[in-house]
Amino acid sequence: MEQTLLIIKPDATERHLFGRIIQRLEDSRFKILAMKMVNLSPAGAKQFYAVHEARPFFGDLVEFMTSGPIVPILLERENAISALRELVGATDPAKAACGTIRHDIGLDVQRNSVHASDAPETAKNEIAFFFAGE
Ligand code: CMP
Repeated sequence: MEQTLLIIKPDATERHLFGRIIQRLEDSRFKILAMKMVNLSPAGAKQFYAVHEARPFFGDLVEFMTSGPIVPILLERENAISALRELVGATDPAKAACGTIRHDIGLDVQRNSVHASDAPETAKNEIAFFFAGE
């Protein structure tokens, strides 16, 4: 069994797509171990996305991720990290494969509805960011 982190982003919570996303996770045999609704501070968003600090979209990304509530979800499954990446699809919804969450509900490369950890080390750090000590 492996654990990973998914975040439902502000564009999806705003459009009331929370239930639909969770249903897709459960349909794909992910077990939900923990979840909560939070409002990220600008400092929190900068810390979470620190790896993108030098990218031209960093400022917009921080603004977007602090524009409304987000829902981090701790998930467990076999091969959870790669299975979730597959279910979520490519970063840009226009390029994401048919049937992926981003293809079906993402709006554009920034408002792409969900975030998924991309590797074991990232998953460990991202899970700790939201759920350490819980
Ligand atoms: P995510 O998988 O959460 O990781 C970084 C985020 O930056 C990405 O999803 C998008 O929401 C956002 N982003 C905005 N513009 C870009 C871009 N041009 N390329 C990659 N990510 C972008």
